Amino acid sequence: MAEKERRPRAPGAQLRLCVQPDPKAGGYVRQAVIAFAETQGTLDDEVIDLVTAIGEALANAIEHSRTEEPIEVAAWTLGDDRLFASVRDRGVGFTATERTRKPALPEGFAERGRGLPIMRKCTDVFSVRTAPGEGTRVTLGCHFHRAVARTHAQRAAG
Ligand SMILES: Nc1ncnc2c1ncn2[C@@H]1O[C@H](COP(=O)(O)OP(=O)(O)O)[C@@H](O)[C@H]1O
Ligand SMILES: [Mg+2]
Repeated sequence: MAEKERRPRAPGAQLRLCVQPDPKAGGYVRQAVIAFAETQGTLDDEVIDLVTAIGEALANAIEHSRTEEPIEVAAWTLGDDRLFASVRDRGVGFTATERTRKPALPEGFAERGRGLPIMRKCTDVFSVRTAPGEGTRVTLGCHFHRAVARTHAQRAAG
């Protein structure tokens, strides 16, 4: 990791974005979250996993919510070392099951169904609130320092 100075944090700062359900929104949201996280004193390595999870939640909102309503993305810090984000759509929602709450990777060659397990694996806090007709809100959170440890462990494992 490049040596980068940690910036002082702005207490209580939040990022709020509203984007159209368009695949092109993905890059903008990722960059905005990374830039926000940097203003909060995190280093790039520390937010990669959270940004990956946000990307999956956003992809689901775009792909599955079946609405033209904008998607709301928020990010905020909690205490000294936790970064949270939420992705909210006002679309069709779905029926949450035990598998939604604790999603596991599907068998070998399954084409779909990896987004929720990726979100869970990439974060320390993962929750989905959804119901048919009520839209979906995914909340994701990471400890900065744990995120670094996980990234390094994964690199070491090849
Ligand atoms: N925002 C959402 N709106 C509606 N349905 C969703 C949403 N997010 C997830 N789902 C449902 O959960 C399923 C599993 O999501 P995911 O694990 O990302 O797999 P995939 O996107 O490949 O189907 C989706 O196929 C969809 O039925
Ligand atoms: Mg998906």
